[in-house]
Amino acid sequence: MQRLITCILILGFISATFSNAETQVKFFNVMDFGAHGDGTSDDSNAIAKAWQGVCEDQGPASLLIPLSKIFLVKRLNISGPCKTPNVGIKFEGKIVAPSMNEWVGDSFSWIQIFNVNGLTIDADGGSIDGNGSTWWEKCRKCRRPTSLRFHGCNGLTVKSLSMSNSPGAHISVNGLDGALFSQININSPPNSPNTDGFDIAGSKNVAIEDSTLATGDDCIAINGGCSYINATRLVCQGGHGISIGSLGRNQSHETVEEVHVWNCSFIDTTNGARIKTWPGGSGYARKITYEEIILEDVQNSIIIDQFYGIKTPNEVPNKVEDAVKVSEVTFRGFKGTSASAKAINLNCSPSGSFAFCKNMVNGTFVDTVPKVSCV
Ligand SMILES: *[C@@H]1O[C@H](CO)[C@@H](O)[C@H](O)[C@H]1NC(C)=O
Ligand SMILES: *[C@@H]1O[C@H](CO)[C@@H](O)[C@H](O)[C@H]1NC(C)=O
Ligand SMILES: *[C@@H]1O[C@H](CO)[C@@H](O)[C@H](O)[C@H]1NC(C)=O
Ligand SMILES: *[C@@H]1O[C@H](CO)[C@@H](O)[C@H](O)[C@H]1NC(C)=O
Ligand SMILES: *[C@@H]1O[C@H](CO)[C@@H](O)[C@H](O)[C@H]1NC(C)=O
Ligand SMILES: *[C@@H]1O[C@H](CO)[C@@H](O)[C@H](O)[C@H]1NC(C)=O
Repeated sequence: MQRLITCILILGFISATFSNAETQVKFFNVMDFGAHGDGTSDDSNAIAKAWQGVCEDQGPASLLIPLSKIFLVKRLNISGPCKTPNVGIKFEGKIVAPSMNEWVGDSFSWIQIFNVNGLTIDADGGSIDGNGSTWWEKCRKCRRPTSLRFHGCNGLTVKSLSMSNSPGAHISVNGLDGALFSQININSPPNSPNTDGFDIAGSKNVAIEDSTLATGDDCIAINGGCSYINATRLVCQGGHGISIGSLGRNQSHETVEEVHVWNCSFIDTTNGARIKTWPGGSGYARKITYEEIILEDVQNSIIIDQFYGIKTPNEVPNKVEDAVKVSEVTFRGFKGTSASAKAINLNCSPSGSFAFCKNMVNGTFVDTVPKVSCV
């Protein structure tokens, strides 16, 4: 009997030690900081206060947005740097935006996360609803906020996040090195204006994996200053496909390189793979690969447009010989159906079209139907 008790005590000690290891992370539950979680009271300040606790903690710390509650957030700034390098957000509840009429502040962003290094957002069950339908009709041409903006957050991890109905782009990624987004589920109607899934700029080593992105505009837009961007095992639904650019607007110098889009499906999108540059710009888009792509009812499966933004010939700037150079582009293994006769559309810069076609010789089209005659 005594042996059994000793044994139980030892087991008890071992399991206590294990659970201590698990509970090392200190959670800051937003409910303890005055959040209501009723979907109608503004919980922005309570969440900001709880975040301050997380950010000033010395050890591993995490913001907890609990399950089964709805948090109305009018505007939220989460910023670092934080004291602990092990900082997280455990996001299980639901965050909703106010309607356009009740918006506060500018319409640049709704939730912004600035300068927090090593942040892990584990959103198993968590969702963000941008209440965008209150903007799309009334503010079709005016500036509509990006829902979730990451700026300067190196070593970011975001998993299992659901987002819907953003007024503008859903997620913007800017000025960071190292980010992994996985199991992201974005769901906005195909006719919602400029509701990009991801807008990435000025960042490197970013991977987006195993996600379904139903949007009204670019599934992913990869803008100037980006390198080493991977998009893997994604489903892009509705919207305009995975785009590089637009680059070179207003005669600017912009660069994008090492983009790898692999094992992705495009369903009912206007484009699959798209590279868009403005005439008169400079810089390059190079080392771009789209491989193992499945298309279902896509209008332009591949489109390279060096006249982006130009509607009439007299809008072409005088220095038309300038163009963002497009090179080392590979399209391999595109399969599926096209919704238009012009499945592959290459609108090259006229003075640069010879060089462009040379680039295409260096690039490769493998397994495409129709065959590309430019090569
Ligand atoms: C949020 O942060 C931005 C940039 O740091 C700042 O300009 C803005 O005033 C902040 N807004 C709020 C509500 O704190
Ligand atoms: C949009 O916001 C308004 C007011 O803040 C709210 O009553 C409505 O339920 C919201 N709609 C959605 C779809 O969240
Ligand atoms: C992108 O994919 C390549 C090839 O699989 C891999 O070597 C690289 O580490 C990936 N980059 C990121 C940021 O995941
Ligand atoms: C482009 O340049 C024009 C004229 O200089 C300016 O009015 C416009 O705001 C610029 N657009 C962008 C996106 O920078
Ligand atoms: C693409 O991803 C799917 C689903 O994850 C997988 O079943 C399939 O084998 C992958 N295709 C390739 C070519 O790796
Ligand atoms: C194409 O590749 C060849 C050999 O690698 C190289 O000499 C040439 O400059 C390349 N052309 C362009 C336009 O990049």
